[in-house]
Amino acid sequence: MSRESDARDLLARVARDHGPAVLASSLSAEDMVLADLIGRERLPIEIFMLDTGRLHGDTLDLVGRIEQRYGIAVRMYRPRPQAVNEYIVRFGRDAFYESVDLRKECCGIRKVEPLKRALTGKRAWITGMRREQSALRGDIAIEEFDQTHELMKLNPLADWSETEVWDYIGGYEVPYNPLYDQGYRSIGCAPCTRPVVAGEDARAGRWWWEEQGASECGIHFSPDGKLIREKVL
Ligand code: ADX
Ligand code: SF4
Repeated sequence: MSRESDARDLLARVARDHGPAVLASSLSAEDMVLADLIGRERLPIEIFMLDTGRLHGDTLDLVGRIEQRYGIAVRMYRPRPQAVNEYIVRFGRDAFYESVDLRKECCGIRKVEPLKRALTGKRAWITGMRREQSALRGDIAIEEFDQTHELMKLNPLADWSETEVWDYIGGYEVPYNPLYDQGYRSIGCAPCTRPVVAGEDARAGRWWWEEQGASECGIHFSPDGKLIREKVL
């Protein structure tokens, strides 16, 4: 599979020339493919996860499986307890259902701010985003410059199809989140993710109650939906 060797070569080059490099893993099928490529090649790329405090138990269980299978410790970044408490006291724990602003504020506290800490001092971050996942992601490049965090951003699977991801997972018997077997196709925080039905977009189950569609949490796109990146290739 040439896409596979392209992704492997890219990861090896980034580890060699642009370290310290990190993989941001939500433990999605895509992120498990990347963890497998990194783990099998023993590349010096740290894997981190933003543990929002609202993830499914099934998702968190995969952390231990990565550690067991590849001998890699997944570094966990958690939101600042004070910011979480203030949000809960002012608005309520699940206030994200009430408005897009309150939803973005929750994502800001639980994901965007911890991401900033995770990327501090790094030269490259790797994500599992694919172009097919939504219209907004339709033109992401494999190599970009992230102006917000001022470092390289790599999307090695940008041009992979969902089928290619699952063929890889099946071919190498890579562990995956069992929620995919229950109809989920994109998995984030438990209260903000639902399974999708045939004919729906892969990301239709994310923040499904919001009208505008194709929502993002703000770690890849700015809150107003503008792109915060430049293509370098
Ligand atoms: S999200 O921004 O809407 O949550 P999505 O779930 O599709 O995005 O994931 C896209 C990529 O963002 C993942 O492949 C991963 O690199 C990164 N990412 C998303 N959520 C997390 C998380 N909780 N921890 C670490 N990385 C994450
Ligand atoms: Fe909060 Fe939902 Fe965003 Fe998770 S996905 S940080 S619970 S609004």
